[in-house]
Amino acid sequence: MTDLSQKIEQVVSVLKETLRDFTPVAFANSLGAEDMVLTDLIDKHRFDIEMFSLDTGRLPEETYELMHTVRSHYKTPLRIYFPNVKQVEEYVAANGVNGFYDSVELRKACCHMRKVEPLRRALYGKRAWITGMRREQATTRGELEVSGYDISNRMQKVNPLLDWTNDEVWAYLKENNVPYNKLHDRFYPSIGCAPCTRAVTPGEDIRSGRWWWEAPESKECGLHTNNVIPIK
Ligand code: ADX
Ligand code: SF4
Repeated sequence: MTDLSQKIEQVVSVLKETLRDFTPVAFANSLGAEDMVLTDLIDKHRFDIEMFSLDTGRLPEETYELMHTVRSHYKTPLRIYFPNVKQVEEYVAANGVNGFYDSVELRKACCHMRKVEPLRRALYGKRAWITGMRREQATTRGELEVSGYDISNRMQKVNPLLDWTNDEVWAYLKENNVPYNKLHDRFYPSIGCAPCTRAVTPGEDIRSGRWWWEAPESKECGLHTNNVIPIK
């Protein structure tokens, strides 16, 4: 058995165990490369996991294209959550449409209203959530566990691809003809909102194109706090 097929089997077991121990389960799907691996596996195995995306209203066109492709390519429905209209209107009135460039606080407030608050709604009533995070993506992700209790969201948080390499993710996508975001072919390894994501140059850190004007330690949007206790 190849290393990759072994890793795939491990992911499938992690998903099965999560369903056994923590149903109902939701999968937060940003439509990035890692999340497309999980989308494909969840769909292939017909796992009873609710798949959702947070549409911040500021995503790149290529992400919307992929969102639409996922709808026709897979049987598993992709539910889309939007930010609260009133909160967005108030933020924009006070800070302008691009207020997030003005300070780290305003950037975090924008991420909070466009991602964190809708995430709370998406996770309501669930007992576990699944993400596509990998350890090597960022300094902030080195200490993560495959499965642990997420204090912020009061449920289990599961990162089945934690120890996958970038090459393994891409080998899976190519071998299984999985659709992916076209921006990945244009040197965007990590894709978030359009105004806060740019291409990287070869050799640069994977997430250096996200909030590139900020220091690496502050580069999390609030979806992932480190409040996780490593218990199974
Ligand atoms: S972020 O915190 O910097 O935005 P990143 O883009 O690396 O996160 O994605 C890490 C994981 O967070 C993804 O694998 C996915 O599970 C979740 N995630 C991030 N953005 C979204 C989104 N817009 N919708 C749903 N899930 C998301
Ligand atoms: Fe707002 Fe940028 Fe965060 Fe998107 S990534 S929610 S545009 S600050």
